[in-house]
Amino acid sequence: MKSILLVDDETPVREELERTLQPMSQTWEMAYVSSGREALAKLAKHAFDMVVVDLDMPQMSGPQLLAEIKTKHPQAIRILMADRCDQSLMRRSLGSAHQYLPKPFKLDLFKSMVTRAVTLRERLANDSLRQLVDGIDTLPSLPGLYRELQEELQSPEPSIQKITRIISKDMGMVTNILQLINSYFFGLLTPVSSPAQAVSLLGLDRVKALVLSMQVFAQFKEYRHPFISLDVLWRHGLVIGSYARAIAQEEKAPQDLIDDAFTAGLLHDVGILVLATNLSDQYTDALALMQNRRVTEWEAECETMGASHADVGGYLLGTWGLSDAIVEAVAFHHDPMRSVSQPFSPLAAVHVANALEEKDLAVVMGAGYTHIDEDYLAACGLGNRLSAWQTVYQEVAHSRSSL
Ligand SMILES: [Fe+2]
Ligand SMILES: [Fe+2]
Repeated sequence: MKSILLVDDETPVREELERTLQPMSQTWEMAYVSSGREALAKLAKHAFDMVVVDLDMPQMSGPQLLAEIKTKHPQAIRILMADRCDQSLMRRSLGSAHQYLPKPFKLDLFKSMVTRAVTLRERLANDSLRQLVDGIDTLPSLPGLYRELQEELQSPEPSIQKITRIISKDMGMVTNILQLINSYFFGLLTPVSSPAQAVSLLGLDRVKALVLSMQVFAQFKEYRHPFISLDVLWRHGLVIGSYARAIAQEEKAPQDLIDDAFTAGLLHDVGILVLATNLSDQYTDALALMQNRRVTEWEAECETMGASHADVGGYLLGTWGLSDAIVEAVAFHHDPMRSVSQPFSPLAAVHVANALEEKDLAVVMGAGYTHIDEDYLAACGLGNRLSAWQTVYQEVAHSRSSL
């Protein structure tokens, strides 16, 4: 039985929640409190599986409470109840919530959200993955510069100047961002030389995702594997991130999902770096198996090491507290059926983007590749969107041909 703590300062809202959730009382153990202070007192006595917090509360706001819970009770799944149209407030709370629950509260949506959150954690808690991760000496950490950016973006008025100042602390990062924006990838006609202009052209959220990904990749820069190239993986991430973002835009998804699709695409194969760095010989064996038997990379990894790069990547990003939508997209990008079907998600975008791209690469490498899981797309009600997404793929592929 899962235990859920609901926090809302308004009595009528709490009573309404209690009434709506009454039919679930046999399945979930629920408790209701009216403030952040009460919630923290309750959590100190009892370990809840999930905490659902209202965005707008006096004294301690929803995001403030979630940030505190993130530090004190990292195991609890953190959900923020917010009005979808209140984008700016919601975006400020990025990083403290695992998922958003749009208001007004709907039981069906809440049920699927709980199932999705619990399924994700169960899938990532399997023994062979745990064993594999426990045997890894050096897991990359969440970059400090990213934390600083996140804090700035959560402030009431994040500015391009302040973001640029933070990024400028790392001159290598500034050079990388300028190189990237001046590559044909972004299709600019006039070269950009000022970091502030680059930040403004990319947009704050895309900069945040790029900084995260660049700094994660930088942690592997000393490393060499005979068959894995850091540069190729970085470009592959950039392509999948851009493509997944374009799909999310095509679907007119809310901005937070568009941003999550980009971040997840950039980092979807980070597990390859972790595995190839730490378990170099086993990884070479997996690559040999992939070519000899023409299976996919992730199937070969599972057979050789007991878990795949997708599992390891998802697990890692989960420990950093990134949103469930990102963790899920990374963990299940090869086999989305392991997740719960849902309307458009970054997972669907990253899965399709990667499958199309992998098919092209597999032809060159003589390996197996992940097929688009059309049953999954159909279960999500997205079956009829594939051809539009393929068109988006052609457009992105065209713009990167000169990269
Ligand atoms: Fe992958
Ligand atoms: Fe990939």
